[in-house]
Amino acid sequence: MAPKAQQPQREKITIPKLYEMKARGEPVSWLTCYDYPTALLMDRAGIDMILVGDSLGMTMLGYPTTLPVTMDVMITFTAAVCRAVKYAFVIGDMPYMSYQISKEEAIRNAGRFMAECGTDAVKLEGGARMAPVVRAITDAGIPVMGHIGLTPQSYTQLGGYKAQGRDAETAKKLIADAEALEEAGAFAILLECVPAPVAKIIHERVKIPVYGLGSGKDVDGQLMIVHDMIGMFERFTPKFVKRYVNLSPILLEAFSKYREEVKSGQFPQPEHFYSMAEGELEKLLSALKRRRA
Ligand code: KIV
Repeated sequence: MAPKAQQPQREKITIPKLYEMKARGEPVSWLTCYDYPTALLMDRAGIDMILVGDSLGMTMLGYPTTLPVTMDVMITFTAAVCRAVKYAFVIGDMPYMSYQISKEEAIRNAGRFMAECGTDAVKLEGGARMAPVVRAITDAGIPVMGHIGLTPQSYTQLGGYKAQGRDAETAKKLIADAEALEEAGAFAILLECVPAPVAKIIHERVKIPVYGLGSGKDVDGQLMIVHDMIGMFERFTPKFVKRYVNLSPILLEAFSKYREEVKSGQFPQPEHFYSMAEGELEKLLSALKRRRA
């Protein structure tokens, strides 16, 4: 019998591995995830990175924005994802007002993701103005990913959810933001809704990995919000989304069919019932008859 081909040992993704992937030009596959069963599947599929994003406020909890999401809520969802994942690099997303008030609070909250959930890193929104906070968290021994471009926690300041850096002046500011984050010790940067040529320039100018969400191909990997790619968020669909499966109509059909079968008595059938142990029903009925007599 021919010897079995040796399967390459699958290893946990770490920051050095992310840097190796960048060095050999291998794009990182990255998705958001908020729950245990989905995280199990993503890890099994070989997804490299998982972000437990505060987007869960909109996708999972039905809020109109991400602002109502608290640290405690993030910890519950992030811990569930971490319990499922063995290989992917998991990032906890720092929610609104968990890192803006003081460096001390930022370090304490970043530490909660690491200690209470077991994440590999945290992400926070903002460029140059957040650089001192990135430095403080990094100096506390916690890897930080910067996030610039469309930063949903400051959507009112940005004038809504729209692409950033579309003119030379704002593009220059994004480039300076990326450089400030690198200088502050961020291990990577996420660009959200940044024009592809600007993303390419940033990718060329900083040494750390630059990942993109709606920011073109010239970056080190792609992030997508899982509910967008599986058709489970119907409120709006951004231009950069590719839907790989449309689960909403499939689930709707299943729920409707179940309802109809319960109403019509078609469900459950004997194969869904439990029976009693051999002879026990007769014993029960005669005991009940004796008690009545
Ligand atoms: O919360 C999130 O999912 C995010 C992405 C939109 C980048 O921060």
